[in-house]
Amino acid sequence: MFLFRADEGGRLAKDRARYVCQACGAVHPKWQGRCDACGEWNTLQEEAPAAARGPGPAAKVAGGRRVEFVGLQGSSAPPPRIPTGLPELDRVLGGGIVPASAVLVGGDPGIGKSTILLQAAARIAASGHRALYVSGEEAVEQVRLRALRLGLEKAPLALAAATALRDIVASLEQEQEAALVVIDSIQTLWLDALDSAPGTVAQVRACAAELIRLAKTRGFALILVGHVTKEGTLAGPRVLEHMVDATLYFEGDRGHQFRILRAVKNRFGATDEIGVFEMTERGLVEVPNPSALFLAERRGNVSGSAVFAGIEGTRPVLVEVQALLAPSAGGSPRRQVVGWDSGRLAMLMAVLEARCGLTLGMNDVYLNIAGGLRIAEPAADLAVAAALVSAATDRPTDPETVYFGEVGLSGEVRQVAQAEARLREAQKLGFTASVLPRRVARGGRTPSAPDGLRLTEIGHLADLVAPFAGRTVRKEPAKAG
Ligand code: TYD
Ligand code: MG
Repeated sequence: MFLFRADEGGRLAKDRARYVCQACGAVHPKWQGRCDACGEWNTLQEEAPAAARGPGPAAKVAGGRRVEFVGLQGSSAPPPRIPTGLPELDRVLGGGIVPASAVLVGGDPGIGKSTILLQAAARIAASGHRALYVSGEEAVEQVRLRALRLGLEKAPLALAAATALRDIVASLEQEQEAALVVIDSIQTLWLDALDSAPGTVAQVRACAAELIRLAKTRGFALILVGHVTKEGTLAGPRVLEHMVDATLYFEGDRGHQFRILRAVKNRFGATDEIGVFEMTERGLVEVPNPSALFLAERRGNVSGSAVFAGIEGTRPVLVEVQALLAPSAGGSPRRQVVGWDSGRLAMLMAVLEARCGLTLGMNDVYLNIAGGLRIAEPAADLAVAAALVSAATDRPTDPETVYFGEVGLSGEVRQVAQAEARLREAQKLGFTASVLPRRVARGGRTPSAPDGLRLTEIGHLADLVAPFAGRTVRKEPAKAG
């Protein structure tokens, strides 16, 4: 009885239109303003009924071949890699691009996706591999002009402007030697077998699946470009994340010349690894020492600034955290955060008020991670707290001190990973002191501090606030009487 009903339901649903969220791919039976699955607004789009897709999966399961099961031990060597010629990109990929892998590169329009991929593809081509670049967004002439500007026009890169998936697949099937294929962008491709417009989830998914299948069978590395728009109107590359081996996001705002390439998924390497680039007249140039870059514009002895010793992927990175308190114009005070989590800021302010007696009161609070980096590590708590306390008391933090440590709700300061790497980076950049969580001996060994670094280990956030407390907290609205 149940089975019959389920089948009936399935057949009914097949004939009706379905509404697919263009951001996350969730399917809804009817149109609604907001997708229940991901919470995005106005992302549902009607898609053609699935009638043409043949019998459901239930009808297909019979008659398969036996799958070979093997042991865990084997002779699989680490995958060979093709260096892209851009060491920062290689680092994010986990040491170069893996043949027969599929990589998605996402990011806002204009952030530099086409630029970096043209640079990488041209260098791979120049190193003797066959590399192909398919542009669906720009004409061949435009890509040539960019190559000329980047000084790459001599590279033996095979370039084509095409958007019809059928043509692209037919061409790639005739390629014997291809090592790398770049598709810029997946949202411009279309498969004529589908009714949906290019850029819809159905098209993006079908085109990507076909190209990935081809990459796996023919052994070339595939790089797909995908746009993310703030409005989420284009099919977000989020639906592709499940299909590819690695997803890299290009971050940074266009006002800044820094670009950060971050691996959010990587089957062949570490995630959260970042590559730092600078957008220049001649394309993206690597920044081998990001800490120096992020701290370059720092001005010592201003209140509301603290240096955070962070870890991005496997690399320590120092950044400046800036906080500003300004008397609120009335109503509820503003909390504006760039580069950090606003929920985390609210929590930290509550802890400072409840556990450390700091009154931030009716001030507007602005928090900024300088240089355009986005930090997700809880270890930044202590640096953010230091910046806030410094801003509230109008006393600068010591410009030669770095901060790191996680803060709990009772105000306790918790251990974070890789303390030694953070301290070494601080020392390398000329810092002389660090405020950090109380360290515990592990396996009978107390973690060593690099020479010349004065360590202040604290167990509670109040220990951070105390040295600032000599002066009264300013900007507190005058109390009556
Ligand atoms: P692009 O790679 O076209 O971005 P995307 O493919 O992500 O949309 O890069 C666009 C921006 O980069 C554009 O505003 C111009 C700038 N740019 C430079 O500053 N220098 C360069 O050498 C190049 C090629 C682009
Ligand atoms: Mg582009």
